[in-house]
Amino acid sequence: MGKKVTVVGAGFYGSTTAQRLAEYDVFDTVVITDIVAGRPAGLALDLNQSRPVEDFETTVVGVTTGPNGEGYEAIGGSDVVVITAGLPRKPGMSRMDLLATNARIVRQVAESVARHAPDAVVIVVSNPLDEMTALAQLASGFPKGRVLGQAGMLDTARFTNFVAEALRVPVRSVRTLTLGSHGDTMVPVPSRSTVEGRPLREAMPARQIEELVDKTRNGGAEVVALLKTGSAYYAPSAAAARMAKAVAEDSGAVLPVCAWVDGEYGISGVYLGVEAEIGAGGVRRVVETELDADELASLRAAAEAVRAKQADVADM
Ligand code: LAC
Repeated sequence: MGKKVTVVGAGFYGSTTAQRLAEYDVFDTVVITDIVAGRPAGLALDLNQSRPVEDFETTVVGVTTGPNGEGYEAIGGSDVVVITAGLPRKPGMSRMDLLATNARIVRQVAESVARHAPDAVVIVVSNPLDEMTALAQLASGFPKGRVLGQAGMLDTARFTNFVAEALRVPVRSVRTLTLGSHGDTMVPVPSRSTVEGRPLREAMPARQIEELVDKTRNGGAEVVALLKTGSAYYAPSAAAARMAKAVAEDSGAVLPVCAWVDGEYGISGVYLGVEAEIGAGGVRRVVETELDADELASLRAAAEAVRAKQADVADM
């Protein structure tokens, strides 16, 4: 049977994710939903009309959903559901300022997904990311490995891009890693970062690495401040779409994602940014990498920070 993916939310993040997924040409169907009447159907029409030019056979279907889950039948049989629903930040806001509003939205979406696509792998991108991922698991009742969040790929991509720009080398020659939360306790990992196979710490002075780490932590906020309405979507959708593709292809790719951590790094019982092997069932396993003592301490601190917030969302 052909593969089916649903993108919930037809804002910029959702629509660019749907476009990337359609252009991969690995799915039979991409469903895009939104609560705004007409918008998903309009986007689907437009995307389908790009098929002859971009040369893909995937069909895009746009569906408007109602407040009581109306329309969600259309997501039935989805292998993957990407949840982008919720509000983006405004300039000056932290991701955490969205907690209560987006918790209401994500809970309702996750319940509808559980009802209509009970076998799907769920990829959450709504903010605050680590908390919304935990909430989507709670509200769907899905096994923890079948719910994951997108943030580490984005943060890692930002870090890699900044390093490549600073050193004026191809992005392809740079490898970086970012773990922890998608927020203040993000943990960029210089010890695992390389340029043309050499340690980043040999390619760049410590002070400059620190600057780029800060720039990575503020990567989302910098875009929000410039756009003034809405938040980033090109890099975020690139990351989310790649995760969905890894699931659809059962690829076993090891990607930085927000996953349920159960003993790795001495951390248990929390959704946290780590590297994980991704397959058709979601997270096959969390992959532990060697960290400096400082980085490990930061990762553990991140786990405690998000653990407290994830406990709060249980009642939202
Ligand atoms: C960002 C938002 C999407 O980091 O969280 O750009």
